[in-house]
Parts: sequence; structure tokens; C-alpha cells
Amino acid sequence: MSEKLTINFSINGSRETKEAAVDQTLLKFIREELMLTGTKEGCEIGECGACTVLLDGKPVNSCLVLAVELDGKELITIEGLSKNGELDRVQEAFIEHAAFQCGYCTPGMIMAARALLDRNADPSDEDINEALSGNLCRCGAYQEIREAIKASAKK
Ligand code: FES
Ligand code: FES
Repeated sequence: MSEKLTINFSINGSRETKEAAVDQTLLKFIREELMLTGTKEGCEIGECGACTVLLDGKPVNSCLVLAVELDGKELITIEGLSKNGELDRVQEAFIEHAAFQCGYCTPGMIMAARALLDRNADPSDEDINEALSGNLCRCGAYQEIREAIKASAKK
């Protein structure tokens, strides 16, 4: 059994205190302890971006972060983007532009896009390409994803 530490953090706007194993990744913690399965498990080695979440407002690959590093921080997952039953405008734009096929990369893409728009309200194509450079889409929906991000920037 791994040693566990008590961590205090904010998850999608709510304060939480939980125990986390010292060797558990943030990705496993989110999916298996917080039961938030919108964050997807892909390569688990930091190459696909399917596990992207916002940690203190910055996009991170949660498979490369330890759960105990969450202590004292603010975590936003895909489940935390909608407010009062209304989707975030990036989520709406992904639907309007059919910016997914199988959808496996979509939560990570949307979190990376949300972080981009939070720091740059009017991103260029280059900015978008750079922001998504760590997020892979095996279905090749890149064009629609870029269009959705540009449309949500204009909203
Ligand atoms: S599952 Fe984390 S980058 Fe692929
Ligand atoms: S929509 Fe299938 S991996 Fe991107």
C-alpha cells in the first residue's frame, strides 16, 4: 500500500479535502477518486493531451502531475466549464462546428482552447496551433477544431 497524504484543493469551484496516494497521478485521482471521467486517459506519458485539465488556470497533462501536487491549488476539469446548466462558449462552438468525431480528444482540446482564450481573447491561427500542439486528434478533426476555437473567440 502506498503512503497517503491529505490534500486540500478546489475542484470546479468547490473546496475539498481528500487523501491521495503519494504515487498516484492527478489523472487517476480525478477519474478514480473524484469520479470525474470526462478527463480522458490516453497515452499516460504526456504525448496526447487527452488528459488536459486546468491547474491554477494553466493547462497541464494530468498524467504527468502527481495528485499530491494538487494541494493548495485550483483544479478545473471539463465538468467544471458549464455554469448553471449552460455550456461554455467553447463547448457550444465545438458542437456548432462538429469539431469532433469519436470525441476522445475533445475534453482535452476544449480545456486547452479555454486556457488559450483566457489568456488571449483574439488568437491568431499560429496561436491556436501552438496552444493545441500537445493535443492529438486521431480522427483528424483539426480543421473543425480550429474553426470552433476561432468562432468562440468572436462570441
Ligand atoms: S494521457 Fe496524458 S498526455 Fe496522453
Ligand atoms: S475526435 Fe476522435 S480523437 Fe479527436
